[in-house]
Amino acid sequence: MAHLPIVENAWLLLDNERIIDFGQMDNCPERADQILDATGRMVFPSWCDSHTHLVFAASREEEFVGRIKGLTYEEIAQNGGGILNSAKKLRAMTEEDLFERAWNRLQEVIGFGTGAIEIKSGYGLTTESELKMLRVIRQLKEKSPIPIKSTFLAAHAIPPEYKENREGYIQLIIKEMLPKVAAEGLADYIDVFCDRGFFTPEETDHLLKAGLKYGLKGKIHANELGLTGGVQVGVANNARSVDHLEHCSDIEIACLLNSETMPTLLPSCAFFLGLPYPPARKMIDAGLPVTLATDYNPGSTPCGKMPFAIALACIKMKMLPEEAINAATINGAFAMEMSDTVGTIAIGKKPNVFITKDISSIAYIPYAFGSDHISQIVLNGQIVQ
Ligand code: NIG
Ligand code: FE
Repeated sequence: MAHLPIVENAWLLLDNERIIDFGQMDNCPERADQILDATGRMVFPSWCDSHTHLVFAASREEEFVGRIKGLTYEEIAQNGGGILNSAKKLRAMTEEDLFERAWNRLQEVIGFGTGAIEIKSGYGLTTESELKMLRVIRQLKEKSPIPIKSTFLAAHAIPPEYKENREGYIQLIIKEMLPKVAAEGLADYIDVFCDRGFFTPEETDHLLKAGLKYGLKGKIHANELGLTGGVQVGVANNARSVDHLEHCSDIEIACLLNSETMPTLLPSCAFFLGLPYPPARKMIDAGLPVTLATDYNPGSTPCGKMPFAIALACIKMKMLPEEAINAATINGAFAMEMSDTVGTIAIGKKPNVFITKDISSIAYIPYAFGSDHISQIVLNGQIVQ
């Protein structure tokens, strides 16, 4: 995790499709159509944000104020706020309006240096509205300059119509939604909010197995609110990642050590909700890799800024800057099954990079946590900012 290879005094050659080559200045190629002088600056592979909910209808700052006054995230959810509040607003919004809002958020996070991203459904909670969300993500995929992975998260909360019939909702997901999602090829993964007050490990197990039948691997929400068995059920079903882990004991660490599942940490969520931070130091010292992602969503993390997640990882979870940068790039790429194409500066990968301002070291990025360190963004070999 702490090994971050660096080439000093380097050149990097890109075309519109791929990274062609790189090396040190004493053997720099003599010709190029366009030259960017990065003297005194650094070139990074773009961030890979492997966990977001950036398709949503509206912000929820009234709940934020409610929490300031003493309510908890779980109390707000039990009173019909939270995810159900977002679902009510999303159901009423057209696909076009949702797309426009999500597109603006995507532009925003690209400006923070994100060059590959995962986006979830989960604010529809009906067949029609979950499909609407996934179609918005498909449109984003078609138009976006950065690669996107799509995750089907109908098991985000039990909708009010099924309050007294949770099994009915789970059957709706399995028998009606999943076949339609798969038939239209709308998702790359399936997600379940496996936590206290949401879905149980048994329910999560059924849902993950149903997803696997359609070729959708799990990327699940686990252990945000307690030690609820989410890690174990994710690992047992070979989930690609288990995300959150604000609660993570030695048992979960041991379980992850024997797996292919990537633990993904979302420190801006712990920051915003006042939850304990995931024990990243303990996990890494035990031999685990970790990924960092934003969790950008209107309820628990209204912030899609990868550099802020990286700063929190260093400041609050005692990750070294090099560890945090690996976690936010190549490990995020792994969590989205894109490590062949993004996440490092390597020959043949996508030419998605950013050039920093004149900064003194890598550690300066999380250290000066409130500053913007990017001077230029290059996506698909083109300067975008
Ligand atoms: O990752 N924890 C579950 N889902 C989201 C938050 C959803 C919401 O509050 O709108 C999360 O934190
Ligand atoms: Fe999330």
